[in-house]
Amino acid sequence: MSAFHDVLVIGGGGAGLRAAIAVAETNPRLRVAIVSKVYPMRSHTVSAEGGAAGVAADDDSLDEHAYDTVSGSDWLCDQDAVEAFVAEAPRELLRLEHWGCPWSRQPDGHTAVRAFGGMKKKRTWFAADRTGFHMLHTLFQTVLSFPDVVRYDEWYVTKLLVDNGRTYGVVAIELATGRTETITASAVIVCTGGCGRVYPFTTNANIKTGDGMALAYRAGAPLKDMEFVQYHPTGLPFTGILITEAARAEGGWLLNKDGYRYLQDYDLGIPEPTPVMRSMELGPRDRLSQAFVHEFDKGRTIDTPYGPIVHLDLRHLGAELIDAKLPFVRELCSQYQNIDPVTELVPVRPVVHYMMGGIHTDIHGATPIQGLYAAGEVACVSINGANRLGSNSLPECLVFGTRAGRAAAVFAGQYGGAIPPAILAQGRDEEDRLERELTRHAEGRERIADIRTEMQTAMENGAGIYRDGDSLAKAADELQELRLRFADAAVDDHSRTFNTELVALLELSFMLDVAESIITCALQREESRGAHQRTDFPARDDEGYLAHSLVYREPDRHGRRVQYLPVTITRWPPGERVYGR
Ligand code: FUM
Repeated sequence: MSAFHDVLVIGGGGAGLRAAIAVAETNPRLRVAIVSKVYPMRSHTVSAEGGAAGVAADDDSLDEHAYDTVSGSDWLCDQDAVEAFVAEAPRELLRLEHWGCPWSRQPDGHTAVRAFGGMKKKRTWFAADRTGFHMLHTLFQTVLSFPDVVRYDEWYVTKLLVDNGRTYGVVAIELATGRTETITASAVIVCTGGCGRVYPFTTNANIKTGDGMALAYRAGAPLKDMEFVQYHPTGLPFTGILITEAARAEGGWLLNKDGYRYLQDYDLGIPEPTPVMRSMELGPRDRLSQAFVHEFDKGRTIDTPYGPIVHLDLRHLGAELIDAKLPFVRELCSQYQNIDPVTELVPVRPVVHYMMGGIHTDIHGATPIQGLYAAGEVACVSINGANRLGSNSLPECLVFGTRAGRAAAVFAGQYGGAIPPAILAQGRDEEDRLERELTRHAEGRERIADIRTEMQTAMENGAGIYRDGDSLAKAADELQELRLRFADAAVDDHSRTFNTELVALLELSFMLDVAESIITCALQREESRGAHQRTDFPARDDEGYLAHSLVYREPDRHGRRVQYLPVTITRWPPGERVYGR
């Protein structure tokens, strides 16, 4: 069976919903659909906490936001994309206000902004510390006001259909029934988020398994800058739940086992405090996570059953401020750690949080495959380079979701039309393949969970906060071995209704692709920049590597090929990363 839409959006999070709205606004005649493996309000955007950056204050400027983003990225971003981003972010945030987003306010009624890591001015809009929830809610209710937008909630996309360099849709499984369907479209926008689940300890929801990256990669699109994996300095031990950077922006301290603010011993690139970045705790995420590793090496962290930790101290902020600005932090600490941050120290450790890399796109979200667009964390435009600044990702979803939606609408309006017979044949082949997978894996002997856990461990040991040639080569060997074992993975559940074991199998297959691409790019980049710290090549090397890596899948052999693409520099030549001047 085959359904047709002019534009099909994969993913119902911030970028996907914003893209769908942009399509509907650009050309109301287009038939738009959103396919999502979860109900949209369960998308990972809902868990974003701290805020969304966009110039708002009189003493701030677009140039300063751009410069913070460029230097924070260790000069690996594309500056034309950054200039577009900083210009459009405030407009998008205001648009959300008009759609009903309850931004936190100053006493005079203006929207409030807070400081955030690596930003020299206060420019992070927030809705207490539940910003993602409120933004997603606002976007979802706005989508609902376009009654013609069709939704495939709890459908899982397994393949992008591509013929002659152009996409024409997907094959997806309806999870409630197990039914597979070919869904054709003139344009497809991938907005499936990141891939934190290829690591064992992450802030990312279970759904973040790199599906969209792998779908595009298998269809022939390159993945860009995959070696850059961001660790957030403060996750709760055991669960990995994020304790927002806003807690440090509001004045929280990081203490080692001696109760000492250890960050003062490290070069965070903050030579002198400014009125905004007055605290060392607001240094950039990569440097703060690296400092934790050095504290561990010096024996100054605290051992727990869930790994070494340090403490986040919020006690001096007081109950009134915590309840007004960080109520979710208090709730999370109470529910998941059984502590009250008003009176107790919060145990934290670095945790995989965000993928700087993703599907290679241009500034309009277009990939090298005609009709295929991507936006949000799944994409690499790139504004984040080697290290993303906190609070740039929510506005990235809005700005580039909008851009991708508009571009896809124009494409679909111009090039819509007949679906080639080869696409329908591909769809049938994929539906048959899924049937065969169920039968074949019914005989399997390997546990999916074992392979997944070993993959995650290989990634943490091989490509963690610090890596070197040996650790990466070992991880590459381990992944190859796991790939062989995956062929014998068992699916014991043979039912059609919500077969979560089958989904886990398909997700694992995507995650193995993504993990291999991370390791391949990390092995080839013989320098240290931002989140990619090679102990065997500790210096940044602009001569050799001021360039994006592009990894292509070589069909048939699970092989990979890496090429480099120069970064776009418009106004800010590479310099030293310094904050606070
Ligand atoms: O700490 C945080 O609230 C995270 C924000 C972000 O990743 O942008």
